[in-house]
Amino acid sequence: MKIPNIPTSLFIASAIPAGFGAAILLKDYIGGAKYTEEHDIIGKTVVITGASGGIGKETALELAKRGGKLLLACRDMNKCERARNEIITDSFNKKVKCCELDLASCESIRNFADKVNKEEKHVDILINNAGVMSCPKQLTKEGFEWQLGVNYLGHFLLTNLLLDKLKQSSQGRVINVVSPLYKKSNINFTDLNSMEYYDPKEAYGQSKLALVLFTLELSRLLEGTNVTVNCVNPGVVKSEIGRHLPLGQSTLSSGFLSPLTWLLMKTPLQGAQTSIYLAVSPEVEKVSGKYFAKYKQEPITENGLDEETARRMWLISEKWTRLAS
Ligand SMILES: *[C@@H]1O[C@H](CO)[C@@H](O)[C@H](O)[C@H]1NC(C)=O
Ligand SMILES: *[C@@H]1O[C@H](CO)[C@@H](O)[C@H](O)[C@H]1NC(C)=O
Repeated sequence: MKIPNIPTSLFIASAIPAGFGAAILLKDYIGGAKYTEEHDIIGKTVVITGASGGIGKETALELAKRGGKLLLACRDMNKCERARNEIITDSFNKKVKCCELDLASCESIRNFADKVNKEEKHVDILINNAGVMSCPKQLTKEGFEWQLGVNYLGHFLLTNLLLDKLKQSSQGRVINVVSPLYKKSNINFTDLNSMEYYDPKEAYGQSKLALVLFTLELSRLLEGTNVTVNCVNPGVVKSEIGRHLPLGQSTLSSGFLSPLTWLLMKTPLQGAQTSIYLAVSPEVEKVSGKYFAKYKQEPITENGLDEETARRMWLISEKWTRLAS
């Protein structure tokens, strides 16, 4: 349907009050149903990065409701404390701890992992959830391009440092939160760190493709253990991750578009559902190296299945994060 001279957003904005109930139903349909299977995780320890807001907080809350012990790994400790209080209040579960983790610093990651390795007998679920998107060019403490550093290299190092504790679990699960934008990306080995040329969107896609390749390579290395690793596409979620995008920057356009974005984007709660499913469902106990969206496995595109690229990335990442030394 084409309506000349009337912006779609205005049309939808005026249509929504009329059909408000219908719009809510439609939104639930687009966003997907809530995961309602009652599997608990009593006795299990969960580490989740970026747990102080958005999808991370919703995921942590749901896993707290299911009886797990939660380690909220966050950079901003004030925000983390507030999230912790909310989670405890809403879940009636007091086993929720705040732990400082700055994924833009290998030293911070090592300190975090040392603490977990000292204090916990096992880690059962690791959710690599934290992410930055399309930020202006900046470098992490070690000089990694920010998106590659935080989204990928930080989680690469963290996961490897926690592997022994994951193997101590009766069934360890690693969940990497990725984005379908990986499909259109490539790993640029000539300029992996975007030193010569930086395009925020390309660097974002590259970081998420790196996570997909990491998922595959790690699943191969974990064959014969009881640890699985999968990745999940949470869908397009309206949360803070979009704050560097033009839509988030311009109050004018976001003001006009808000009814439309409200309709089309998932809430953080909806975005958390497939992560929760992967964390608790017995269905995926033995599934590893796969990509999930809306509770279902989806085929990985060719660029994410390239074993040679995956291995090369692994070796570079080991060197850059000084994992192998
Ligand atoms: C890789 O990066 C270099 C340097 O920025 C650039 O010239 C080249 O076009 C890039 N290659 C691909 C395939 O994106
Ligand atoms: C994996 O779990 C099974 C059943 O819980 C157990 O018998 C087996 O020893 C475990 N294997 C490893 C390598 O931990």
